[in-house]
Parts: sequence; C-alpha cells; structure tokens
Amino acid sequence: MRVVVLTGAGISAESGVPTFRDAEGLWHGHRVEEVATPEAYARQPALVHRFYDQRRAALASVEPNDAHRALARLEGELGGDLLLITQNIDDLHERGGSQRVLHMHGRLRSALCGGCARRFDWTGALGDRPPCPHCGRRELRPDVVWFGELPYDMDRIHGALGTADLFVSIGTSGAVHPAAGFVLYAAAQGARTVELNLEPSVGSRLFDETRHGPATHLVPAWVDELLR
Ligand code: APR
Repeated sequence: MRVVVLTGAGISAESGVPTFRDAEGLWHGHRVEEVATPEAYARQPALVHRFYDQRRAALASVEPNDAHRALARLEGELGGDLLLITQNIDDLHERGGSQRVLHMHGRLRSALCGGCARRFDWTGALGDRPPCPHCGRRELRPDVVWFGELPYDMDRIHGALGTADLFVSIGTSGAVHPAAGFVLYAAAQGARTVELNLEPSVGSRLFDETRHGPATHLVPAWVDELLR
C-alpha cells in the first residue's frame, strides 16, 4: 500500500511550536502573510529576519511529540511506500526519527544565498547579515518558501500523489495552496483520503474520512490501525 502523508503546523503544536492561523498564531501583531512574502523581505528585511531568527532559536527548546514519532514508526514499517511531505519548517519530524521528509516550504535550519543561490545548513541567526560561506556576499535569507514563491519538490509530490492508495492530511488548516489542493488531486487519481486535525479544516468535506482531535492522540492511533 502506498501512503502519502501531508503535515502542517498542527502536528507540532503540542510540542510548543506556535501554529500560523490559530488565535496565538500572530507574531507581534503581524499576520503571517505580512512577514512571509518576498515583498515584506524587500521592504522590511530586519523585521522578517527577526521573525525567522526567533523561530529558528526556539527550535532548541522544543521536542518532537508522539505524533511525529508515530510517523517515524510508520516509515520504519512501510519504507519507500511512505512519502512524508511537510509544510513545516521545523525539524521535528527528523528529530522524531523520520528519515525521508520533503520540506515543501523549506527549512528553518537552512540558509539560502541571494547572491550565489547555494544553500547551507544553518543554526545561527541571519539578521546580523553574516557572509555567505561560498561567495562572501551578505545576502543570506531564510531557506523558506514565501507566499508567491514555488514550493520545493513539486514534481516528486505530484508523482507520489498520482500513485497513492491513501492520502492523509494531518494538522493543516487547508488554507494555503498548493498543499490545500493535494486532497482533490489524490482523490481524482483514486486514493482514499483521510483528515486528522484538531477541528474541521477549510477542506474537511473533501475527505473520505475525518477524525478530529489532538494529533498526539489521533496519529498514533491511526498508525496502529494501519499497521494492524
Ligand atoms: N493537533 C492537530 N491539529 C491541530 C492541533 C493539534 N494539537 N493544534 C492545531 N491544529 C490544527 C488547527 O486546527 C489548524 O487547522 O492545525 C492547523 C494549523 O493551521 P495553520 O496554522 O494554518 O498551519 P498550516 O496549515 O501548516 O499552514 C500552512 O501556511 O503560513 C503558511 O507556510 C506556512 O506552512 C505554512 C502554511
């Protein structure tokens, strides 16, 4: 059985990583759309760096939860028949034990050089404008996909969605495309679709089955059922 799992901010919420669109999803009164665009970065680079530098630093004080670990267990059983796609820029899937994760919106712990387009693993700050380790230009930006930019790995994602038997969406509001459209694409190609989310998402009615509750309860239970 080929399974594609899509995760969003909700899977990391119980680890203490704030989501984007829930009540406390605001950052200093800014909506995410105000700090996560190329235009915002061009207009207010210091503000945008501060937002991502804080989020990168905060990763040091959070731990993966039972939902991340359950998906790692699923990978251990299904191997290459599982594709885990995350919209999250945190590294909690990897730290929970998953080895094959597609970060379609990039990663906090990566920097992208606006000068030479190379990317580097990065754990420090970027707001103080460190030089690029390769070209020396002080144009490193967070290696994250902003609104209006192309998500990573879309070819691979479409290929996997096209041959999936099961598509499962976990902890995502379904507010942001293209990920919000994966359920329709997978269903059109014949996959069964399941939503696991705290509450009904924007696209809940598009799924064959929906279960609502916290990810740390729903995901381990769902993995148990699947592997039974
Ligand atoms: N368990 C399961 N789901 C949860 C939990 C939890 N403990 N807590 C919150 N949720 C759900 C919320 O109900 C909401 O539907 O997680 C979802 C989080 O939604 P968003 O904050 O919109 O996050 P996400 O869907 O990942 O956002 C998509 O938008 O801002 C951009 O690039 C950013 O990757 C992000 C994308």
